[in-house]
Amino acid sequence: MRLLIKGGTVIDPAAGIKEKADVLIQGEKVAAVEKKIRRPAGAEEIKADGCLVVPGLIDMHVHLREPGYEYKETIATGTAAAAAGGFTAVACMPNTNPVCDQPTVVEYILRRAEAAGFCRVYPIGAITKGQEGRELAEMGQMKEAGAVAVSDDGRPVADARIMRLAMEYSRAFDLPVISHCEDPNLAAEGVMHEGYWSTVLGLRGMPAAAEEVMVARDLILAEVTGARLHIAHVSTARSVDLIRAAKARGVQVTAEVTPHHLYLTDAAVQEYDPDTKVNPPLRTEADVRALRKALADGTIDVIATDHAPHAPEEKKREYNYAPFGMVGLETALPLMAGLVREGVLTWEQLVEKMSVNPARILKVPGGTLVPGTTADITIIDPEAEKVVDPEKFYSRGRNTPFRGWKLKGWPKVTIKGGRIIMIEGRIV
Ligand code: DOR
Repeated sequence: MRLLIKGGTVIDPAAGIKEKADVLIQGEKVAAVEKKIRRPAGAEEIKADGCLVVPGLIDMHVHLREPGYEYKETIATGTAAAAAGGFTAVACMPNTNPVCDQPTVVEYILRRAEAAGFCRVYPIGAITKGQEGRELAEMGQMKEAGAVAVSDDGRPVADARIMRLAMEYSRAFDLPVISHCEDPNLAAEGVMHEGYWSTVLGLRGMPAAAEEVMVARDLILAEVTGARLHIAHVSTARSVDLIRAAKARGVQVTAEVTPHHLYLTDAAVQEYDPDTKVNPPLRTEADVRALRKALADGTIDVIATDHAPHAPEEKKREYNYAPFGMVGLETALPLMAGLVREGVLTWEQLVEKMSVNPARILKVPGGTLVPGTTADITIIDPEAEKVVDPEKFYSRGRNTPFRGWKLKGWPKVTIKGGRIIMIEGRIV
């Protein structure tokens, strides 16, 4: 099958391209990127005038919930949500039931993704057995089965000795260690950021330091072990400073930030809406400013959603009892397009942080459109405007604080391996 994407602006930062060009796809591969390509006989044409044609977006931090929590999300619904949001690949966190801490679970996820998935799925294995923080999981076997990283995300690795060991082993298998940085004793039973608003609202706070002391610890451990460390969902200004300093002295660290931490502050908790409850919590305006700056100056490498679907009946509870997490796959791109319009990021940087860098960090295919590579492509309409309506999500989760927001810059077409998976918001 041949597909011609005509009239769009191709942005391929890895190849140094940002220009109006046509893209020809032949079978599963990109066949040509040239100024003007005549439609070969029998080829299907996609008109992309006014649109951006970019390497398929990759979200390196999602919770697909399968196996075990299919009432929240399945691999089918989560990957449909991903494709609807313009993503051609996701990496999924191991806090499933059973925990993804052994090769059989990695294989199960890959098989389910093959059968039911609308985008590529890269499983992330647990650092410790059962994510209990006590005994290392079998990294080598999980890698052999297809795991692309290790993480106990959802929970911190509280024991520094275990984290050190994990980093030492991770080197042998060339796996990045993705750290959920949270000191459980400092975070205690907090349900939001500790500060002005937690005091006003009478809710238990988690201090910024709960994240920062763990960021500092893990940066030191990465420095002494030489491991590749990736810090998940960075949310505070001091975490950013620590990462910036570590990068300057050559520590192998990368970092990600979520769209919600770039847009919302703890003031959003005012109405006690459980959809604003997330871990790490929404922080202060100064933190948001620091995160935006860090994204722009390269201290933060990746934008990842931490897509965390929950069932309405468990999320719609009193703030203290609702689970942490918000869905993100179907709103991430238009939110980040907003940052481009605000002048925080360029489109090239957006593509770097949502495609090039995740591919590089996880060492998975993608992140470029050079001829010969697999045709995973996202077409973005920067002028398309739509109001966020969670009832129309493909995800089973409806838990978004962006309900009713009018956003501009939506994905128009998602192409995986040369096949159209989503067009104008509809999965095909
Ligand atoms: O808010 C969150 N929800 N943060 C996490 O780290 C885990 C996630 C989940 O699995 O629900």
